[in-house]
Formats: sequence, structure tokens, C-alpha cells
Amino acid sequence: MPTVAVYPGSFDPLTNGHVDIITRGARLFDHIVIAILVNADKAPLFSVTERVEIVRTVFKDLPNLDVDTFDGLLVDYVERRKAQVIVRGLRAVSDFEYEFQMALMNQRLNGKIETVFMMPAEQYTYTSSRLIKEVFSLGGRVHGLVPNMVEARLREKLTNR
Ligand code: PNS
Repeated sequence: MPTVAVYPGSFDPLTNGHVDIITRGARLFDHIVIAILVNADKAPLFSVTERVEIVRTVFKDLPNLDVDTFDGLLVDYVERRKAQVIVRGLRAVSDFEYEFQMALMNQRLNGKIETVFMMPAEQYTYTSSRLIKEVFSLGGRVHGLVPNMVEARLREKLTNR
């Protein structure tokens, strides 16, 4: 049976840290679903439609990947997709507590689903969507930390503010 993994998150916006995890995950699993949470944040910078479009465009050449949205419990979505694995990225020790809680809660909710943690390349260990938005909105350089398409969209949003 093919191993299907779900990589869930807000992806507001997609960073090169996410891109790195997705690329590694697509090598490891037969199929990987990028699942964007709807309503994670009441005031996201990028709409869900924009976030889906960005992931689709960045990974247009990866055949074993698809992009979807979900709401409700993650484990229910994973089961609906007939997936066996949840992929999460671990950057630093500070991520661990939150990720550990989520993984154990998900394990309690559905013991058949495994959470697999993957580490991004070292240069992305301090990259987060929240920091990218903050740095960019204050005029800082985020080049190399997000896909070019995200950088361009951030610039558009800033000029149209
Ligand atoms: O990238 P994020 O924003 O840290 O992702 C968090 C996400 C989407 C993985 C988490 O909020 C989630 O799974 N939400 C769905 C609701 C749910 O199942 N909550 C219980 C998790 S133990």
C-alpha cells in the first residue's frame, strides 16, 4: 500500500523552510498532501486561495504532491485522505513542546496515524512565517528565505496597503 503523508499548517506564507520539508517529504513518502488549515488565523495576510495557489505554483513539477484545505480535526482529515502519516517540521528545541503535545493528542485521538518529525536544512532553522511577515513589513530583507513568488506577493501587499 502506498504511504501517504499529510503536511498540515497555516502556510501564511509558505517559507523556504516549508519548501525544504516538503521536498524531503516528497522523497520519503509515495504521496504528500499539503493541507492548509482554513480559519487558523482570523486575519491571515494571505487568503486560503492565495496560499493554495502559491504552493501549487512552487511545486508544479512535483508529481507526487497535492494541495488541499481542511478544517476541523486534523486526524479526521488524515483519515478521510486515507493517509497514514502526519509530517511536521522541527526547527529548534522551542518547537518541541507544542509539537510534542500535538503529536500525543493526535495519537490519542487516532492511534493508527503516526507523526513524523523532519528537520529542515540548517539555514532555515530560524525561519518562520510570523517572523517573515514582521521583518518584511518593517522593511527588512527576506530574500532567500521565501520563494520568489512569495517575496513578490509580499511586496504587492505592502505597496497596496
Ligand atoms: O503551521 P501551524 O499553524 O503551526 O499548524 C498548526 C496545525 C494546523 C497543524 C494545527 O493547528 C492543527 O492541526 N489544527 C487542526 C485542528 C486540530 O486537529 N487540533 C488538535 C491538534 S492536537
